[in-house]
Amino acid sequence: MSFSILSTGRALPKTVLTNEELCSFVDTTDEWIRSRTGIGQRHICMEESLTDLAAEAARRAMASAGVGAGDLDLILCATISSDYITPSHAGTVQEAIGASCPAFDVSAACPGFLFALDVADGYFARGRAKRILVIAAEAMSRLMDWRDRSTCVLFGDGAGAVVLGPGEGLRSLSIRTQGRTNVLYVPAARGNLPGRAQGPESYAVMDGQEVFKFAVTAMCRGLRGSIRDAGLSEADIDWVLPHQANMRIIEFAMSKMKIPPERFLINIERLANTSAACIPILLDESREQGKLKKGDLLAMCAFGAGLTSASAVIRWEID
Ligand code: ACO
Repeated sequence: MSFSILSTGRALPKTVLTNEELCSFVDTTDEWIRSRTGIGQRHICMEESLTDLAAEAARRAMASAGVGAGDLDLILCATISSDYITPSHAGTVQEAIGASCPAFDVSAACPGFLFALDVADGYFARGRAKRILVIAAEAMSRLMDWRDRSTCVLFGDGAGAVVLGPGEGLRSLSIRTQGRTNVLYVPAARGNLPGRAQGPESYAVMDGQEVFKFAVTAMCRGLRGSIRDAGLSEADIDWVLPHQANMRIIEFAMSKMKIPPERFLINIERLANTSAACIPILLDESREQGKLKKGDLLAMCAFGAGLTSASAVIRWEID
């Protein structure tokens, strides 16, 4: 027995930062960002904590499933940008929503949501849970060096959540890590012990072209592998939910896969790359727009720092 998705939810910060607004303090242009990435704007946490966002997404998903805080057996949060190093983001969300079940984080960068689903799968397989809340929430704007124009224009903030219950919705899921630190990393805080060299400032450092090369391969291999593992062919897939890192990466996947481009769900123009939150936000938006029908087969794929990648096929079980 594995799981089915019972409900979804999302939350975005109020502040929208358009490319034009970004140009007032970053040496870039709307034309460069749109043509190289497909991004037009992003939401940025100015007033909200990440816990605020994640708890809002969680409450929406729980209300939609008719699940109360006391019904939850486990809370998993995928994030690399939480409010605290410790306690975990899952812990601060647990407090905010008034739950009391075990709660912990999964750190796997952009594919973190799919890594968290893999952890959840194990709990269902062992009969350890009936209701699991999985949240992916990121305030990537906090990790940016806003003087680094090749990185800061790419990301946005947001949160998505799902409530899972026992079921047969999960058809295949695979996670991968290829230890390559120098391609994309954020140095950790070091404390202030007198006499010890202080660490670098804690900003994301990225070799964009290396990530790009990794991403295009990871995206196609991941999707194909998960579709095959599910015993399906590309023609069976109703919707693809690709990681929203760069429209050119998505277009590359569209050109290589035997799945019509209109079946790829996309919101990168409005939201940019919200890291682990991309896929659950996309799920909730697509559900709200009435695109997802019960029985639809969804193929998902994401890649990120690590280098990590993950892919899954899930049958949509919600009416
Ligand atoms: N505005 C204007 N010019 C810019 C900007 C900008 N924002 N950023 C870079 N440039 C310039 C560069 O300085 C360079 O100028 P030069 O030729 O005079 O030196 C020129 O544009 C070309 O730069 P490239 O790096 O070659 O641009 P590229 O086409 O490779 O696009 C990008 C860069 C968008 C970063 C691309 O490589 C990319 O999307 N990579 C993948 C990144 C990604 O997906 N990251 C998320 C990983 S997920 C996670 O876990 C967080």
